[in-house]
Amino acid sequence: MSSESLKLFNIGNLLTYNSKKKSMISEEGLEIIVRDGKIIEIGKNLNNADQIYDCENNLVTPGFVDCHTHPVFFNDRSNEFEMRVAGNTYEQIAANGGGINNSVKSLRDSDYNELKQRIIHRMNNFLRLGTTTLEAKSGYGLDLDSELKSLAILDEINSEHRVDIIPTFMGAHAIPKEYNNKPDDYVDHLCNVIIPAVAKQGIAKYNDVFCEKGYFDIHQSEKIFLTGLDYGLIPRIHTDEFENIGGAQLASAMKCVSADHLMCINDSDIIKMVDANVKAVLLPGTTFFLGKDKYAPYKKIKDSGLEVAIATDYNPGSSNIQSMTFIITLSLIYMGFEINDAIFSSTFMPSKILNIHDKTGSIEKGKNADVIVWNLKKPIDIPYNFSNNSIKTVIKSGKILF
Ligand code: NIG
Ligand code: FE
Repeated sequence: MSSESLKLFNIGNLLTYNSKKKSMISEEGLEIIVRDGKIIEIGKNLNNADQIYDCENNLVTPGFVDCHTHPVFFNDRSNEFEMRVAGNTYEQIAANGGGINNSVKSLRDSDYNELKQRIIHRMNNFLRLGTTTLEAKSGYGLDLDSELKSLAILDEINSEHRVDIIPTFMGAHAIPKEYNNKPDDYVDHLCNVIIPAVAKQGIAKYNDVFCEKGYFDIHQSEKIFLTGLDYGLIPRIHTDEFENIGGAQLASAMKCVSADHLMCINDSDIIKMVDANVKAVLLPGTTFFLGKDKYAPYKKIKDSGLEVAIATDYNPGSSNIQSMTFIITLSLIYMGFEINDAIFSSTFMPSKILNIHDKTGSIEKGKNADVIVWNLKKPIDIPYNFSNNSIKTVIKSGKILF
């Protein structure tokens, strides 16, 4: 017995990565047929389907894949935002008890179901903004129970919600308050207790470390990565956001799948990353939201041959941004991206980093039907109209969501 099929017709322009051509393609007049959530045909003058959807001659792209987010928090931190716009820096606020440890307190105190409801609300918003798949990190628990609780909620939402979530463990997000003057003891606790328990729980795929001055140094980060690897957790790193302490070199030595932020990366570290096949994830929303002016050196990174994704870094402190459209806009204005490269870096490239590019990240036969139909005609209209809601429809695994 075959299930209902869906046909998308009257597509003005289909912009997607094409695996055979190994490049972005832009084609007019195509139609797409979907069955069982998957794309089964792309072409012209295709047969009819059970349900048909008129794209009204508009632009169609893959759903966004946001490969770096921190959506598991309880309270927002608008009070810190207010302090920052009044002249305090992110680093000063963190040093005075704000920052990540502020979110840790409210998450630890939170009721499981209330926390889950708030995260579901954020997932609804991701879908509304065209993000059909995202990587989501724990890291506002920083103790055994709260980290396991964060990952368990992500897992439940992943199975109950339309959005696809790839969970990452980030117990090395900050030194929790109770370990204030003994960071190495926290690293030991992570390695001896929390990482083994996270591995046993079996939800997290990646082990992410904030390797930055005031957070985890090179030796601590290395130890956390090596322990994670022993337990089957794949390393990813946050580094070179505020200062270069050698995190990109460590990422290369550890063969992290990606190194993220990289505002302060230097030329020799870029070469090391190329040699070790560590991909770059650039997060311009953080520079923007923190009111700074140092964006990652995209052109240098690209010219080196390094593969690049862009992501929101959605979190309550340094990037209260869920919109990949806005991140694309920042990438063009401040990092020198061309529009088709920005779409590639927010669809196919992040799916490759997350190793799900056989399922999503491009509109190709056999893949999940994760599609955005825009109220726009041309790719450049996406950033040009960033402050409007220009999405007509989001389709996730073949289901028209709105
Ligand atoms: O990417 N990544 C580390 N932490 C976030 C900030 C998290 C927070 O302030 O809550 C970042 O900048
Ligand atoms: Fe982050």
